[in-house]
Amino acid sequence: MKDLRLDIENVLPFIEQEELISIQKEIFYQHQQLLSKSGKGSDFLGWIDLPGDISSEEFESLERSAAFLREMSEVVVMIGIGGSYLGARAVIEALTPAFAGFRYHKGNPLIVYAGHQLSEDYMADLMEFLGDKAFSVIVISKSGTTTEPAIAFRLLKQELEKRYGKSGAGDRIIAITDKLRGALKTMADQEGYKSFVIPDDVGGRFSVLTPVGLLPIAVAGFNIRKLVEGAVEMQTVVNSSALFEENPAALYAAVRNLLYRRGKPVEVLVNYESGLSYFTEWWKQLYGESEGKQNRGIFPAGVNFTTDLHSMGQYLQDGLRVLFETVLSVEKPRRKAVVPEEAQNLDGLNFLSGTNLGRINHMAELGTLLAHVDGGVPVMKLIIPEINEYYLGELIYFFEFACALSGYILDVNPFDQPGVEEYKRNMFALLGKAGYERETQELKKRLNW
Ligand code: PA5
Repeated sequence: MKDLRLDIENVLPFIEQEELISIQKEIFYQHQQLLSKSGKGSDFLGWIDLPGDISSEEFESLERSAAFLREMSEVVVMIGIGGSYLGARAVIEALTPAFAGFRYHKGNPLIVYAGHQLSEDYMADLMEFLGDKAFSVIVISKSGTTTEPAIAFRLLKQELEKRYGKSGAGDRIIAITDKLRGALKTMADQEGYKSFVIPDDVGGRFSVLTPVGLLPIAVAGFNIRKLVEGAVEMQTVVNSSALFEENPAALYAAVRNLLYRRGKPVEVLVNYESGLSYFTEWWKQLYGESEGKQNRGIFPAGVNFTTDLHSMGQYLQDGLRVLFETVLSVEKPRRKAVVPEEAQNLDGLNFLSGTNLGRINHMAELGTLLAHVDGGVPVMKLIIPEINEYYLGELIYFFEFACALSGYILDVNPFDQPGVEEYKRNMFALLGKAGYERETQELKKRLNW
């Protein structure tokens, strides 16, 4: 294992060696359950072999569609929510230069998002922004019936049809959905949209390496083959052995569960690169929706350092001792920026002149880690050499596999999300949807309407 590394040195003062030895047996068992597809939710394990199974025809087809959208769009709107949104955004934001959104080059569209929330202001702002820009839409929904993306799609589809006519609009819409079911599938067939399929056995939050993630990432101009190559490398590593020395995903799943059992129910994913903030959002969804059920599960939280050291830093150092941290540590920055010398040295920082910001960032990372460990917070470090497609691919597969193992250790089904339905039932009842009459009456009484 040369690329991604997991360092648990600063967790060892918080757990006993015997605990690590005894949880290894559980990990062996669950690793085997996962690979033999005999554990909970085994109908949704398609993601395990997925990276290695993507054919060159599939890559070519995705790349062709991406090139087509790139050529004719100044803006591509990606519509989707949850697992049909976060993975692509995580990778795109990690790889896109910070200020790329402020300039447009032909053939390199700006990617914007819709259908991931219901804010009227956001939607109106987006419609205004699209103004007279040439835009296209990628609409993603596995079920094809999710309210948020369906509403956004209505608006954007109408706008496209108004501008380009029905057939011109059809050329600018790509649908990614189920092979057979759902309103989006029916609409795509009726209108003749180009479409891609989300495999039946891959759930939303494990779908970033299907067209759900790969098409938008390719449209953003990134190398999806390298992303998948990294995932395949990690697939080989973590599938082949359950031994901690050989399998960082097994070790991560084990350590987080040991800490949970020792009264640490909150895991904070820490990054020091602002581009990774959506990676943290993806991770939060993956772990939160997979593990938080039956009144158990580790609560996934996230912070962006050093920004949040000036907000959450105080709590992490000194607050309730219920948390542990996993630091996403990036060894090498992509770009260069060096502190300049100042004649007057009023800020007293001339001792840093000539120093790369990356080095200062690393010292902040190291200093914070030691301080938090001293403050009673166990800290794991997940190290990647740099942020590129390949290492993001490794990270994605690492977290997916560890999440499945960890969910099994927690004895939950990591592949369902029954709790997500509750808010929808209330929302539809409050909006007066047919079939919800009884719930509407109950809620009206409760709210004194
Ligand atoms: O992980 C999941 O299954 C969910 O987060 C879904 O991805 C999300 O609810 C969107 O569902 P759909 O793709 O059916 O619109």
